[in-house]
Amino acid sequence: MTDTQGKKQATASKAKTARASKSEAEVPLGPTGRPYHGFPTPTPLDSHGPARIIAMCNQKGGVGKTTTTINLAASLAKYGRKVLVVDFDPQGALSAGLGIPNHDVTTIYDLLLDTKRDAHEAIVASTVEGLDVIPANIDLSAAEVHLVNEVARETILSRVLRQVSNEYDVILVDCQPSLGLLTVNALTAAHGVLIPMECEFFALRGVALLIETIEKVRDRLNPTLQLDGLLATMYDGRTLHSREVLERVVDAFGGDVLETVIGRTVKFPDASVAGEAIIQFAPEHAAAQAYLRLARELVSRGAVA
Ligand SMILES: Nc1ncnc2c1ncn2[C@@H]1O[C@H](COP(=O)(O)OP(=O)(O)OP(=O)(O)O)[C@@H](O)[C@H]1O
Ligand SMILES: [Mg+2]
Repeated sequence: MTDTQGKKQATASKAKTARASKSEAEVPLGPTGRPYHGFPTPTPLDSHGPARIIAMCNQKGGVGKTTTTINLAASLAKYGRKVLVVDFDPQGALSAGLGIPNHDVTTIYDLLLDTKRDAHEAIVASTVEGLDVIPANIDLSAAEVHLVNEVARETILSRVLRQVSNEYDVILVDCQPSLGLLTVNALTAAHGVLIPMECEFFALRGVALLIETIEKVRDRLNPTLQLDGLLATMYDGRTLHSREVLERVVDAFGGDVLETVIGRTVKFPDASVAGEAIIQFAPEHAAAQAYLRLARELVSRGAVA
C-alpha cells in the first residue's frame, strides 16, 4: 500500500458512518469511508412507468448538476430504463450537452406557460437509446416573472410532467443554480432530490441552506419529498483538500452521502463539447464507470425502479 492510500484509508475510517460490520471488514473502504460495493446490475423491466421524478438541485453554480443529469440519465437508459430529462435552466446546458437543438423548437417554457399544451410536443429523442429530452433556452429566464401571478404557481411543472409520467421510469429535472420559483416547482413536482456537490470548502454551507428549502417545500407543498442523496463530484483523492471536505460532508450527512463519488477529469468538459454522454464519448474511462455505478447504487437504494 502506498503512503497516500494509507492516509486516505486512515482518514476515511474516521468518518462516523464507517462502522463496517465484521463480514464487510474484508471489503476495501471507498472515498466516503464505507466499504466499497459494486452494486448489482439492475434487472431488466418488463413494463415502464409511472416515473419517479428526481430534481437535481444545488443553488451553487458549477457543481456538476447538469453533468450528473446527463450521465446518470444515459447510464439508467443503458440499464434499460426509459428516461426523460428536463432542462430547467435558461442556460440550456443540458440540451447542449446532449446535442439537442433548443432554438425554434417547443421548450419547457412553452409548456409552463400553457399547461393545456401537449407536453409530447416538446419531447425530443437523444442519441442515447431510451433517453428523451425536453429542452430549454433563454426564454425560460422570463418564466419566474410570468408565473409569479399564476394560481398554484408552484405546481405548474408537476401538472406538465403528469401528462407524460406514465411513459417513463424516471424523470430527471436539471435545476438552475438558484432557489427561486423554478427550483421550487421542480421540488414540488419531484419524488426525490439528488444534490450534486463539489468537493470544495464552501460546499457545506450552501447545502445546509438547500436542505432548509427542501424541508420548507416538504412542509408546505410536497409532504412526501425525499432526499435521495448527496453526490460528491469533482473529487480528487490526491489532494488533502478533497479528502478533508468529503470527510466533513460524511460527518455532517452520514448515510445520505452516496457511496459513489465522481472524480475530477477533463473528459466531462470534452464530452459536453462533443454533445455526448460520457458513456458514449469515453465508455472505458473511470468517469463513465462511476456514473454507471451511480445508476446501480440508486436502483439498489430504491430511488429508481
Ligand atoms: N467530475 C468533473 N470533473 C471535471 N469537470 C467537471 C466534472 N463535472 C462537471 N465538470 C465541469 O464543470 C463545469 C460545471 O459542471 P456542470 O455544468 O455540470 O455544473 P452545474 O452545477 O450544472 O452548473 P450550473 O450551476 O451553471 O448549472 C462544466 O464545465 C463541466 O464540464
Ligand atoms: Mg447546470
